[in-house]
Amino acid sequence: MAADKRIGILTSGGDCAGLNAAIRAVVHRAILTYGWQVVGIMEGTQGLLARPVRYQQLTIEMASQQMMRQGGTILGTTNKGNPFAYPMADGSVKDRTAEIVGGYRELGIDALIAIGGDGSMDILRRLAAAGGWNLVGIPKTIDNDVGATEVAIGFDTAVAIATEALDRLQPTAASHHRVMVLEVMGRDAGHIALTAGVAGGADVILIPEIPCSMEKVAARIRDVRQRGRNFALVVVSEAVNSGEGGSVMKEFADGQRRYGGIGNYVGHRIAELTGAETRVTVLGHVQRGGMPSAQDRMVASAFGVHAVDLIAEGRFDRMVAWQNRRVIDVPLEDAIRQYASVDPEGTLVRTARALGISLGD
Ligand code: F6P
Repeated sequence: MAADKRIGILTSGGDCAGLNAAIRAVVHRAILTYGWQVVGIMEGTQGLLARPVRYQQLTIEMASQQMMRQGGTILGTTNKGNPFAYPMADGSVKDRTAEIVGGYRELGIDALIAIGGDGSMDILRRLAAAGGWNLVGIPKTIDNDVGATEVAIGFDTAVAIATEALDRLQPTAASHHRVMVLEVMGRDAGHIALTAGVAGGADVILIPEIPCSMEKVAARIRDVRQRGRNFALVVVSEAVNSGEGGSVMKEFADGQRRYGGIGNYVGHRIAELTGAETRVTVLGHVQRGGMPSAQDRMVASAFGVHAVDLIAEGRFDRMVAWQNRRVIDVPLEDAIRQYASVDPEGTLVRTARALGISLGD
């Protein structure tokens, strides 16, 4: 690609730690190695819908080590407003593909790097097809459910925060002889709960991939007591179906529905079934913010460099991925199609069972 080319970058979907490290790597590789210009599109596809299009020219000076340490995304992001059925102010829904494609054209970019989860990748791939864009994806999400990659940016930091929460809950559990329930995020995948639960010494880990029963959970708590320990730690993934009333969702003032509240239900049932004093902590968006872990910075940096190299090689409709200790690239379609949930027969589930952790089944 010639030196006068310009590429775009955007972040889409929920924020997480490590996004700025990926942006920094893209800026450095594109400017220092190839001499290209890089424009950052603001708030995902929202920036392309605005007129004039909202973007900023990204420079080496802006993309500093300091920026890499920051949580969130300097470009802003959005996880609402599906462009194919966009909710308008008058209550109608509208397909805004043509406006987004027009915004992209206005920017005059040769290729786009999109940092997103599977939902965002799916939307952007369809937009790319409609607009003839040269698209490259970088996977990010604390849920770690993007297919074809072992890790997505943000997961490691979220797990570290959830593990630290268990470390902090354990002394209170022991001091007050309580069952402490920790509800973590992850959407339909139990990766955060399972990984943090194993690392943080949980007694019970409930994940959406393994149907659970509250009776079995109560039995494990009684068993812990019989063995002479007067406290327990329980980790619950937000999308868990308790087997008694389905999964729990909450609705926000703007009508959006999200998982949330299963921890309170589980805590309440444990108290009812065992008589134990229980307390519930809902970790929420704490898992998405803060400084990225070393691993997230490292993976994000490697992803950013490889994404720019794909553009240089003219290889599009691909996503960078982490497999077997290295960065590779896969067809974007594979990443979208192969949803990465927890393998109920996988290493971590087997490890948890071997450690005597109940999965509620
Ligand atoms: O996908 C990331 C995630 O944090 C999920 O784990 C969670 O269910 C959801 O986003 C929360 O979304 P919001 O930020 O809109 O509340």
